[in-house]
Amino acid sequence: MTINQLPKVALGFFPTPVHKLQRLSDELGVNLYLKRDDLTGPNLFGGNKIRKLEYLVGDAIAQGADTLITFGATQSNHAMETAVAARQAGLDVILYLETITPNQAGDDRANILVDKVLGATIHYVSMVDRTEAEADAIAMTQAEAEAAELAKQGHKAYIIPVGGATPTGSTGVVLGFKELMDQLPDINVDYVVHGSGTGGTAAGLIAGAKAFSKAGHPTQILSMNVSPKPEEHYQKVVNLANDALHLLGLPQTVSLADTHFDQSYFGEGYEIPSDSATQAIKRLAQAEGILTDPVYTGKALAGLFDYVKTGKIAPGSNVVFWHTGGVSALFAEPAMVGKLY
Ligand SMILES: Cc1ncc(COP(=O)(O)O)c(C=O)c1O
Repeated sequence: MTINQLPKVALGFFPTPVHKLQRLSDELGVNLYLKRDDLTGPNLFGGNKIRKLEYLVGDAIAQGADTLITFGATQSNHAMETAVAARQAGLDVILYLETITPNQAGDDRANILVDKVLGATIHYVSMVDRTEAEADAIAMTQAEAEAAELAKQGHKAYIIPVGGATPTGSTGVVLGFKELMDQLPDINVDYVVHGSGTGGTAAGLIAGAKAFSKAGHPTQILSMNVSPKPEEHYQKVVNLANDALHLLGLPQTVSLADTHFDQSYFGEGYEIPSDSATQAIKRLAQAEGILTDPVYTGKALAGLFDYVKTGKIAPGSNVVFWHTGGVSALFAEPAMVGKLY
């Protein structure tokens, strides 16, 4: 396959803007740019998943699917964006949602509200007395059974793993990195900083940096984890990056040495607000008028600010913060939002 042969459907508005945050740059002593993947579209709440979904939905349609099935938390951005993508492509959508932050009956907010407006079929997967891994396994077993049942009725379901973290999904992010390089021809980008969950975005950015960094000036991807991950996770990200490069017909390969993950900024855990993220969200909003979210981008931004403060990012560096979206979380359950005012 080459880049242009992969099946794809157009879902978002690309290229997304990139612009400098001058006031914050002056304050921090670095050149800070923002890559606006919060504006991928097609609705107010875009985000990083749209790049992945353009290729995942393309693959689904190429395989003759009429239904998408995916997974996430009840407030999952990925699940909501998958539901949007399904409707854009004229497909049905089934979501298996883990109740990590339980909502009150009859009080659906933010992404779960949007899922319902989109008419997604929703199955809740209880987290009571279960680890996340156990809940994931139960959800996958139920989804496979549902796909088999649909097949008997003449339908074809395409199962997208949590976060859209597959080689096909990550190809969209590889090309997103290329898009950034094309937009900043005169700037040597030292770092791209982003929030990392399933690792599909990290894989795409790391692969993209390997393939498309400016000659003689490799960009380092700084991936801030938003939840704890076991050591094996990082090798999976490397494999994902290499599989995405292979799918795109690109000759480069990456290794663990190309990755930089940091587990210091998720606080007590996924969907649990942290003081440093709360401060970071308010700092960006009050300096530049731009919103981030308490689950992903706020925590990643807290990492960026700390790296600058501690000199891990040297003064004068050219830094791109990859805004992956998720701002709908500002309207989620108070337990997830934290004390922003
Ligand atoms: C807003 C936002 N940022 C970052 C991420 C992390 O992306 P990935 O799962 O590809 O690591 C997600 C994933 O859900 C997200 O919704």
